[in-house]
Amino acid sequence: MPAPDRYAVLGHPVAHSRSPAIHARFAAQTGQRLDYGRVLCPLDGFVASVGAFAAAGARGCNVTVPFKFEALQRVLQSAGSASARAQRAGAANVLGFDGADPARWWADNSDGIGLVRDIQQHAGVPLAGTRVLLVGAGGAAAGVLGPLIEAGVAELVLANRTAAKAEALVASHAELATGHGTQVIAAPLAEPGRGFDVVINASSSSLAGAAVPVPGAVLRPGSLAVDLMYGAAAAPFMTWAREHGATARDGLGMLVEQAAEAFFLWRGVMPATAPVLAALRAEVDTSA
Ligand code: ATR
Repeated sequence: MPAPDRYAVLGHPVAHSRSPAIHARFAAQTGQRLDYGRVLCPLDGFVASVGAFAAAGARGCNVTVPFKFEALQRVLQSAGSASARAQRAGAANVLGFDGADPARWWADNSDGIGLVRDIQQHAGVPLAGTRVLLVGAGGAAAGVLGPLIEAGVAELVLANRTAAKAEALVASHAELATGHGTQVIAAPLAEPGRGFDVVINASSSSLAGAAVPVPGAVLRPGSLAVDLMYGAAAAPFMTWAREHGATARDGLGMLVEQAAEAFFLWRGVMPATAPVLAALRAEVDTSA
């Protein structure tokens, strides 16, 4: 029997990554033979690491912090192909290989569709016609903005500490927003508006242990409040959300859904995500 197809998550750090366990569950569930590991890349060595992994016969990889931007650039600079959603996000978290030549690689970004599917399918909140507040304008926010617009959000307010970064993201998504009838505006963190249907924390404030950077009035009873982090990092945001009457959610569902989309891109088979999310949730304590 030939060796299983090889995949891995590349990042720095990667020891904590849940991706190998998620993909192992997907593979068992769908009967796909694959071997999914971790590759710790030196901070200045992503290009060499990904090149060596592809040259060793791997079929693809996930890319995590801090290499998602570099991953897209590597593929674009080598005349490989990149999906529209990866180009809009300016970052790739999924690569596919066909040998060592990067001109034959492809890059995609499954983070945003992962968040949209988690909100709609697992949290049960249809996004069409909603008012959404997206906090942050870094890589995580850039990855989810386009898919939120494509999901039919009516109004999307982008609030960030550095106004210029929010304004740049609004500008780069203006055409997509017009096409979908979504009003996308930048606003200051202190006054982003009130009573949103969905509030998404895509800033790294939780990681820094900083206070939630928006006023509680952005929430109303019944709002959905999602932090893209999970585990202990998401706990302060989730506590704050519950204190303001919202339904709090961490980023575990997005993690599983972005992995499922990557698995589908590589294998052509979409795994069932609910049982994998349930198993993962039992392992990760997100109680505040
Ligand atoms: P990521 O890839 O996780 O998005 P990033 O690209 O470094 O990381 O972006 C981090 C985001 O969190 C930025 O929007 C940052 O705000 P600035 O653009 O002003 O730097 C935001 N952020 C980080 N710490 C924050 C804090 N304590 N309060 C508010 N926003 C914060």
